Amino acid sequence: MDERMITAEELEEDIFEENIRPASIKEYIGQTEVKENLDIFMKAAKMREETLDHVLLYGPPGLGKTTLSYIIANEMGADIKTANGPAIEKSGDLAALLSSLEEGDILFIDEIHRIPRYIEEILYPAMEDFKLSITVGTDATSRHIEIDLPHFTLVGATTRAGDLSSPLRDRFGITSKLQYYTKEELTQIVLRTSKVLNCPIEEEAAVELAGRSRGTPRIANRLLKRVRDYALVLGNGNIDLKMTKIALERLKVDALGLDDTDYHLLRAIIERFNGGPVGIEAIASSIGEEQTTIEDVYEPYLLQIGLLKRTSRGRVVTEKAYKHLQLPYKEV
Ligand SMILES: Nc1ncnc2c1ncn2[C@@H]1O[C@H](COP(=O)(O)OP(=O)(O)OP(=O)(O)O)[C@@H](O)[C@H]1O
Ligand SMILES: [Mg+2]
Repeated sequence: MDERMITAEELEEDIFEENIRPASIKEYIGQTEVKENLDIFMKAAKMREETLDHVLLYGPPGLGKTTLSYIIANEMGADIKTANGPAIEKSGDLAALLSSLEEGDILFIDEIHRIPRYIEEILYPAMEDFKLSITVGTDATSRHIEIDLPHFTLVGATTRAGDLSSPLRDRFGITSKLQYYTKEELTQIVLRTSKVLNCPIEEEAAVELAGRSRGTPRIANRLLKRVRDYALVLGNGNIDLKMTKIALERLKVDALGLDDTDYHLLRAIIERFNGGPVGIEAIASSIGEEQTTIEDVYEPYLLQIGLLKRTSRGRVVTEKAYKHLQLPYKEV
């Protein structure tokens, strides 16, 4: 299958977008509560000349967790070392990472919920007492060693806070949940990115784009870049409302920001399961997708805008969704 234009997941092309990432808390749009709290905790830590307490950032993909981690490092004037949960396969990987840290460093671990539990345990004393405590060697010669670590701040990011073990979760002093962005905030983000990319967009076009970006900055930025292409080739480079609508239609992103995949999912539930309630496993096998992909990628936005509902007996397609798909709704 083609990569989805509107997936919130990071695609290859997004990785080259370092220049559009806001670098300071001032430039970071939205997430007001999270931002204001972090700002206070960072200021307090600096006033006490201490490292910031460990921070857990969670929320759906593309909402700015990685961006915020880099901002924390910038604001604290700290160096950042980064790692990825799935790449930490052995205790030694994590031990090496921790022992490479220097005083005041930020250690950013993305997808932190994917570190295996027995390895994760190494983090407990590291976070609590800044000690690296590991067993080295095999059975007969094995011994326990403990090494002092410099004070550092762990910033963990996850799309699935529920998958985090409670001992790990409890060791974060600061926990911030990122929310979907409002249309107004996304409009600001689109306007900001258009300045960075030097491709002016008319305000009403930015609003239109924002409304179809699924509450997600990553999607807003990606759509902006594609609309810019259409404007250049089909028009005179000007990104106005008309051009934006033409481009989004060609990209098959509808007025609510839905694409074929969303239609496919909603239709499958309607046609094969009478609109639900139906279990996630049944949906997954009926559309040939992984259950976790549905839960993490497809369904959060549909739930957020009320096209899908989660009940104790499974997922249900709402009346609003039937209307949007222009299908007759039968009360169940
Ligand atoms: N608050 C914001 N203001 C402006 N731009 C933002 C903001 N948050 C995110 N962005 C933009 O959206 C893009 C995606 O953000 P980021 O990579 O930080 O998301 P993420 O939450 O780490 O996603 P994932 O879960 O896939 O790791 C970034 O390139 C950044 O430019
Ligand atoms: Mg990220």
